[in-house]
Amino acid sequence: MGVMHIPGHEHQKPREVTLEEIRDVLGNCQLCPLGQTRTNLVFGVGNPHARVMFIGEGPGRNEDLQGEPFVGAAGQKLNGLLGLAGLRREDIYIANVIKCRPPSNRNPRPEEIEACSPFLREQIRSIWPDVIVCLGNFATQFVLRTEQGVTKLRGRFHQTGHFVVMPTFHPAATIYHQDWLPLLEADMRMLGQWLAEHPAEAGEVR
Ligand code: URA
Repeated sequence: MGVMHIPGHEHQKPREVTLEEIRDVLGNCQLCPLGQTRTNLVFGVGNPHARVMFIGEGPGRNEDLQGEPFVGAAGQKLNGLLGLAGLRREDIYIANVIKCRPPSNRNPRPEEIEACSPFLREQIRSIWPDVIVCLGNFATQFVLRTEQGVTKLRGRFHQTGHFVVMPTFHPAATIYHQDWLPLLEADMRMLGQWLAEHPAEAGEVR
């Protein structure tokens, strides 16, 4: 049986797979070679009913050691930006495109992203956020299925399937490109405005 279409309920969640179930399936994942070099698999953290899901690239050194996304310098930057959107860390859910740290923080390889992709897809379906914020090129290209870069795509909302998507710069990128910080800040304010203009639907548990 297909998903029933009820007019006016286009954003309704079709089914419930819990994050715990997805984490259990990952187990001691060895689907790509990063399973051999990681300290901890970094699944994701936050509110399972978040209206906003943030997606980063992959764990760095601190994340690998602690098993949690965005706990290092990039996480400090992100925490400082959330307030511009009227959000607190406990309001959101954060995950990465890949769950294990690439050695020396090199870029994730296409085959690693491919191997890891079912888990992020399931996380998105479980959380069923109103908005997906893609931090940087890897998340943007994965979610929007595009080759275009974030520089071209940021500054506005996109729609993919059921979800509204806001691509923006990765907070860590603003450490090297300081001129990107005001743009990232403007995007976060734009997100806050969108959330204020689209209050959670009646009956939604958030
Ligand atoms: N950068 C990311 O993309 N993800 C993290 O979890 C930390 C840094």
